[in-house]
Amino acid sequence: MSTTDRGTFASKLGVILASAGSAVGLGNIWRFPTEVGRNGGAAFILVYLCFVFFLAMPVMVSEFVIGRSSRTNTVDAYRTLAPGKPWIVAGFMGILGGILVLSFYSVVAGWTIFYTQESLTNRLWAGRDFSALFQNFVSNPWKPVLYQFIFLGITHYIVSRGIESGIERFSKLMMPLLLVLLVVLMGFSLTMPGAGAGLNFLLKPDFSKLTTDAVLSAMGQAFFSLSVGIGCLATYASYFDKQTRLVSSAFSVCCIDSVVAILSGFVIFPAVFSVSGVSPDAGPGLVFITLPHVFNTAFASVPVLGYIFSLMFYVLLLLAALTSSISMHEIATAFVIEKWHLARLRAAWVVTMVCLVLGMACCLSFGPWAEVKVWGRGFFDLFDFLVAKFLMPLGGILITMFVEWYLNRKLVVAQLTNDGTLHVRGLNILLFLIRWVAPIGVGVVFFNELAS
Ligand code: PHE
Repeated sequence: MSTTDRGTFASKLGVILASAGSAVGLGNIWRFPTEVGRNGGAAFILVYLCFVFFLAMPVMVSEFVIGRSSRTNTVDAYRTLAPGKPWIVAGFMGILGGILVLSFYSVVAGWTIFYTQESLTNRLWAGRDFSALFQNFVSNPWKPVLYQFIFLGITHYIVSRGIESGIERFSKLMMPLLLVLLVVLMGFSLTMPGAGAGLNFLLKPDFSKLTTDAVLSAMGQAFFSLSVGIGCLATYASYFDKQTRLVSSAFSVCCIDSVVAILSGFVIFPAVFSVSGVSPDAGPGLVFITLPHVFNTAFASVPVLGYIFSLMFYVLLLLAALTSSISMHEIATAFVIEKWHLARLRAAWVVTMVCLVLGMACCLSFGPWAEVKVWGRGFFDLFDFLVAKFLMPLGGILITMFVEWYLNRKLVVAQLTNDGTLHVRGLNILLFLIRWVAPIGVGVVFFNELAS
């Protein structure tokens, strides 16, 4: 297939919103506050931001270089840039990563559809036992699977419409809406009585909680949140045009992603702290068990506000999940289209079918298949582990090494400067980060974790 019929993003804004859409997801609104709550608030955030800009951003820029210079899916990218060399393994790891991540991500995304529906029909009423609601729902043998399938169906629909009228158009629609929802919710949250304690928790670093484990989690979180290491952004970059500025786009994506993560903290913690007896380190149940309780208690005197707050919150979560899931799906879809010369719709079906099967296994691991373990883990935890602790960091190491050690320096610089027409501030620092800091930094964390 020639490069011209593959499609391209039609505008600069489209590039940034689609890539930021990939980055901004459940990782920001669900996982980030959970990790912050567990690992000492602001101290964790500081370490996290260092990882975002010094480790994850160099990987992102490297993915952009690989994607745009090859203009093909992540496997063929290595085939084109390094013919006959084993680097192609990194491409296959990306396809595997995309499928695994979508399989478990769609489980949680399915939960958000259920919670959106419960909010909409005003069923998250005060006094309901939210812990039982959550447990009963996720362990039900068919309900969560149904919601997961609905979510995968929507993802499939958007991806099968193609780059410009699918991914770009929906990202342009959903991202601004998402940002507006987030800011309105923050406004709500900050005016709650007792919000100050939440702010204090977020802004005052508690370094005593910053254990080695917390530092390792911060890196895993940075990679997951920025979608780097599995060729997702390389795939998007294969649709960038010649004028796209790789470095400034990567920087914008990192900034948008970090701002959204921190704003989500500003939505959640002031709300959580405004209700006495609720702990900020509730773990993954934070947004599905703790928050419904908070919505009801905090707005007990004006229930309609609680209704609006909760509905907006779950819609926000759902939009964020969708803009990310389409990017996961696209990694493998681009590959299937180009490998077997299939039409986009057919290729998308192949990927969706695989994800339906694997995704169902993840979903059932909260219920009937709870006892089915592979290497001591249920499917959901196994896939999460394989992606976040293994494929992403290893991919990050390989990607940066490939760009700085294998690719011709001139080609890399030509990509970063658009053939010398751009002046990129800090270019040498960036190249240094790609060459040394990212592979070594990620390697240290990765091997540390494998050894533990
Ligand atoms: N970055 C997304 C999030 O924060 C998750 C993601 C991982 C998206 C890998 C694409 C690829 O939720």
